[in-house]
Amino acid sequence: MKKMMIRGTGRYLPERVVTNDDLSQWMDTSDEWIRQRTGIEERRWIPEEGNVGAADLGLEATKIALDRAGWTPEDLDLIIFATLSPDINFPGSGCLLQSKLGLKSTPALDIRQQCTGFLYGMEIADAYIKSGYANRILFVGSEVHSTGLDISTRGRDVTVIFGDGAGAVCLEGVETDENVGILATSLHAQGDYADALMLEAPASRLSPRLTKEMFDDARIYPTMDGRNVFKLAVKRLPEVSQVVLDKAGLTIEDIDMVIPHQANLRINQFFQKSMNLPDEKIFNNIQKYGNTTAGSIPIALDEVIEQKLIPEKKATVLFAGLGAGVTWGAIIYRFG
Ligand code: UT7
Repeated sequence: MKKMMIRGTGRYLPERVVTNDDLSQWMDTSDEWIRQRTGIEERRWIPEEGNVGAADLGLEATKIALDRAGWTPEDLDLIIFATLSPDINFPGSGCLLQSKLGLKSTPALDIRQQCTGFLYGMEIADAYIKSGYANRILFVGSEVHSTGLDISTRGRDVTVIFGDGAGAVCLEGVETDENVGILATSLHAQGDYADALMLEAPASRLSPRLTKEMFDDARIYPTMDGRNVFKLAVKRLPEVSQVVLDKAGLTIEDIDMVIPHQANLRINQFFQKSMNLPDEKIFNNIQKYGNTTAGSIPIALDEVIEQKLIPEKKATVLFAGLGAGVTWGAIIYRFG
């Protein structure tokens, strides 16, 4: 049976470091508040000049992932691009990345599952591989949040959390009887919570789509019911992780590393406690990058591999996340 194997990973974080102290020059916040409530120390933003988009960050991450896989762009059968901050409204960033890779007809699919983009993307890639429609797939999760944030005090609860960055993963179908690849998945969405974390305008359901009032009323910036999203995350992350463990017939002791979405260090600390995980079995890098949404899990995965935090062979990893939609889920993956 065909199993989907990770062949290479890459990440790209823009060089511009924005510290908590930088933010407190523009809004009423402080390094102490941000560290205490979120664990974030700094994040990366794209340069002020140059019109850098999600596809540009994705391209840099992709080059590294392709190189590590030993592939060229022409080897790809499909590109899956996850972002909530596409370069332009349409066409999707997947098409823009495909062009930047010099490809002329490779299919490109954009998905909009926000913080769970990697989880949905992995399951879609696995389904394409199992059905025989594609065998070598590039997944990219990439965000440019910084150009869309309200950097006044009005937006401080949202703005301090987010950062720019991209992660890329090369995925390949391999015929094997070994118990490797995706061992279990559980993905969910509940649109009842759509307005708990959203960016409302411009919107096709509004007529006109964009007005000066929308700027003045800050409806062009993301809004979040942070407490509610926090409560959902600390409940659902352990729940859905237990579901995938049960499905795979594993216990948490069988997992070499938990790689959660990086939304808030406190969420991940609650999650760690609920799952009874020792410090060395859960990975966090939100301190350096903030919340890079669809980029966060693939960026973290790339760092876990680079820092050799998992066994070289047959490492079993649990990915979990919750974010806008709300969408949430978990996946257990075993390396070959
Ligand atoms: O990846 C997408 C999913 N997103 C998440 O998972 C985010 C989940 N939520 C959170 O991470 C947290 O709710 C936040 C970090 C967004 C906020 O932390 P909190 O502990 O829930 O704070 P709060 O919203 O309850 O606000 C507490 C106080 C308020 O002031 P008052 O009403 O007590 O006077 C806020 O106005 O903190 C104030 N506040 C700030 N103060 C300084 C909110 N943002 C800031 C800020 N700096 N940046």
